[in-house]
Amino acid sequence: MKLRQIQIITLFPEMFTEVFGVSMMWKAQDRGLVKFSTIDLREFGLGPRRQVDDTPYGGGDGMLLKPEPLFAAVEFAKKNDPEALVVLTTARGQRWVQAKAQQFANQERGLVIICGHYEGYDERITTLVDEQVSIGDYVLTGGEIPAMVIADSVVRLIPGVLGGETSAEIESFSDGQTLEFPQYTRPAEFRGLKVPEVLLNGHHAQIDEWRKNHQQKSL
Ligand code: ADE
Repeated sequence: MKLRQIQIITLFPEMFTEVFGVSMMWKAQDRGLVKFSTIDLREFGLGPRRQVDDTPYGGGDGMLLKPEPLFAAVEFAKKNDPEALVVLTTARGQRWVQAKAQQFANQERGLVIICGHYEGYDERITTLVDEQVSIGDYVLTGGEIPAMVIADSVVRLIPGVLGGETSAEIESFSDGQTLEFPQYTRPAEFRGLKVPEVLLNGHHAQIDEWRKNHQQKSL
């Protein structure tokens, strides 16, 4: 299995420390399946103040990420991983769905995720980008949370990341949708709330039938 790099270009690399350092994201790295890294866009900023943004041509509010630092950061990432897919997070992008996460996981390619900026970016960056992705119809202040969503939803689908008795095993896919059934653990009764009897009897065919009847679309 090839080690997949996931490189995140961001002005806020510290936001990723916890997310990539715990739970399944950490395990994926520990198992040698994924390598996360952040690329601090500020390091590619211009001049002594490491400028990364500027006012828009034509006027208007806010500052846009300048092209030079973004191009330099993407080129740096591509030097590390020439085959990587370059993804730009933007509210204008194509909607991120489970089928897309699966497609990315199936491709044995690393990812470079560019975190967009609350006020925008110079459009020329899109010439370096393979996919523009939105995680939903709402506007966030930056692309960091979308980058985490994309990385998490892809990494958990990489073979070997989830081991043993995992949620991947209890999910089934139909038309790109995840079907999940309700689950319970001990105790069998809690504050008068009972676990369905069928799940307690160890009869696997009946349990499978019950689960099939109780699957719900979760996506
Ligand atoms: N940047 C701001 N809003 C976003 C969204 N919904 N998805 C991806 N990137 C974004």
